[in-house]
Amino acid sequence: MSDTETIKVKFFSGEDLPLELHKVRIVQKLHLRPIDQRLKAMDSAGYNTFLLTTDNVFLDMLTDSGTNAMSDNQLAAMHQADDAYAGSQSFFRMESAIQEVFGTKFVLPVHQGRAAENIISQIFIKKGDVIPMNYHFTTTKAHMELNGGTIFEIYTDDALKIKSTVPFKGNIDIEKLKGIISKYGKEKVAFIRLEASTNLIGGQPFSIQNMREVRKIADEHSLMIVLDASLIGENAFFIKQREEEFKKKSIKDILLTMCNLVDIVYFSSRKVSSTRGGGICTNREDLYMKMRDLIPLYEGFLTYGGMSIREIEAMAVGIRETTDETIISQSPSFIAYLVNELDKIGIPVVTPAGALGCHLDAMGFLPHIPQSEYPAGALAAALYIISGIRGMERGTVSSVRDESGNDILADVELLRLAFPRRVFTLSQTKYAFDRLNWLYLNQDLVGGLKFVEEPAVLRFFNGRLAPTSNWPEKLVAKFKQDFGDSL
Ligand code: F0G
Repeated sequence: MSDTETIKVKFFSGEDLPLELHKVRIVQKLHLRPIDQRLKAMDSAGYNTFLLTTDNVFLDMLTDSGTNAMSDNQLAAMHQADDAYAGSQSFFRMESAIQEVFGTKFVLPVHQGRAAENIISQIFIKKGDVIPMNYHFTTTKAHMELNGGTIFEIYTDDALKIKSTVPFKGNIDIEKLKGIISKYGKEKVAFIRLEASTNLIGGQPFSIQNMREVRKIADEHSLMIVLDASLIGENAFFIKQREEEFKKKSIKDILLTMCNLVDIVYFSSRKVSSTRGGGICTNREDLYMKMRDLIPLYEGFLTYGGMSIREIEAMAVGIRETTDETIISQSPSFIAYLVNELDKIGIPVVTPAGALGCHLDAMGFLPHIPQSEYPAGALAAALYIISGIRGMERGTVSSVRDESGNDILADVELLRLAFPRRVFTLSQTKYAFDRLNWLYLNQDLVGGLKFVEEPAVLRFFNGRLAPTSNWPEKLVAKFKQDFGDSL
């Protein structure tokens, strides 16, 4: 088939099922521990799923970061690594893959996405600057604020609506963008940031139409656009599915169109190319020169940037594979299946299905838990206890406190169940559905959480919480009553 056709396999039965377009040749054994052991593990982890260890986790849906399945071609490429501190051929192979796929001439390697954010923020943000964007990502915001910037999220009215049919909830609201520029003056706008498949609002894409409008405003005010391309493949896939003008275009063309509309592209390779590492790319030599000298300071020499040379080889192949729809459609199609099945039985979930994971609305799932008791954190803990599935809290636990020490309540309280590319099967996805269904029917048994140990920065990573009552024990008792000796 030509690379401009959309991948769609219809079942004779009429069922709308995702289909694995790969075969599994290397597998890793999983452990589904008994529920008493899971309760103990959650307790030892301070009701924070980040602090669980994988030997107690059945389906690890914490993230797709660094956990996507690698391809045979990526593994094969790792064997040709040209180990060298400087001038490695592996770097030039990676650089040419990026030039081909993103269409950007200059490439700076970094050890992961947030390292790119550190360098971009240090170079382009001055104290008092503002940075308008569709939505923040946790590490992005932390780096920008560390450098004295203030972020403004100028999403459209639909972005935070849980149930929606709007295809591009990741779009920037153009009127709000104009408002920020006229209020602060273009000198104070460090740059405009666009995040592909906007992570924290449920993996929601923006359209090329919206990018073009943002570009027009940026040009009128001589402003730079920085694209966080960590989930660009999936955003391109949604553009192809949902934006009329691009229905017949190849993913490769769409990626080039997107990157051509911005000044700087940066990414976490842990997501985009199923490896480790990251990069900053641009066609503008002036911008490249401004950032270049920070690479040896924070990352490593310019031809490895803190990555292993083997990873760089795998990254080169992974970047090219981003143009392959059979690969980048996998995660969205499994997410869409789970989201649509949950939606059908009334479980509150972010729609339309997006990239990265299935996002459950914890405030709808557990309406009796106030935001001050962290409903998304409680849902993550409860789901782990009753299923061994590890999700990630994306709500107020992932937020911060204000100057008076009060929680800044998150706009949305989400539990993210990530679908790393080509990792989980349909029956595992059905297991997740089944346990969520049971949990929803037993929602009243789930109670809130409170912090018992709270780091000052990015508290969700290492913070420890405790249940506000003995609800976990009651939940376990009900599970045993309903499931007998089943795991
Ligand atoms: N930008 C976005 C949109 C991301 O999703 C991430 C990471 C980063 C930047 C930072 O990249 O982890 O390589 O330093 N997201 C991961 C996640 C952690 O689980 O969603 P990094």
